[in-house]
Amino acid sequence: MSQRVTFTVNGYERTVELEGWERLIDVLRETLSLTGTKRGCDDASCGACVVVIDGEAKKSCVYPAKKIDGKEVLTIEGMADGMTLHPIQQALIDSGAVQCGYCIPGIVMELYALFNKKPDASEEEVVDALSLHLCRCTGYEAILEGALLARERMAAASVK
Ligand code: FES
Ligand code: FES
Repeated sequence: MSQRVTFTVNGYERTVELEGWERLIDVLRETLSLTGTKRGCDDASCGACVVVIDGEAKKSCVYPAKKIDGKEVLTIEGMADGMTLHPIQQALIDSGAVQCGYCIPGIVMELYALFNKKPDASEEEVVDALSLHLCRCTGYEAILEGALLARERMAAASVK
C-alpha cells in the first residue's frame, strides 16, 4: 500500500508518495533529483550517503524513507550560501582533501552534524567521525587537516 510522507529538505517542505520499500537515498536522488548525496556501497559501510536528519548524521542508504515523515533533512545542496561555500566545504578544498569528490558530501554532512552538536569536538572525536567514511583518493591526513581547519574557522566566526 502506498504511503505519503511530508518532511523538509534544506528548508523546503516536500511531500512524496512511497511504495514502502524505498530508502531515503532513493527519495533524495530519484524522486527529488538531489544527486549530491552519493550512493557508494549501499550497505552502510562507506559513508558516501550521509545526510543530516534532525541534527544527526545518518546513512541514507539504510534509512527507511517511511520514517522520514515530519523530520528535517539537510543535504549537501543546502550547505552553500549562494555562491559562498560552507566553511567545512571550503576548508576541505583548502587542505587538498578533495580529489574526485565522491566521498566529500557525506564527510561534509558528518562534520556539520558533529560541529553543530559539539563546536569544540576533540581531534579524537573528529577522527572517530571520519572513521565512518571511506575515501579512495585523497588519503585521510588531508581530510583530517581540512576537518580541523573547518572546526577552527567555524569557531572563530561562530558559524553553524
Ligand atoms: S552508500 Fe550508504 S554507507 Fe555507503
Ligand atoms: S576524494 Fe575521491 S573518494 Fe574521496
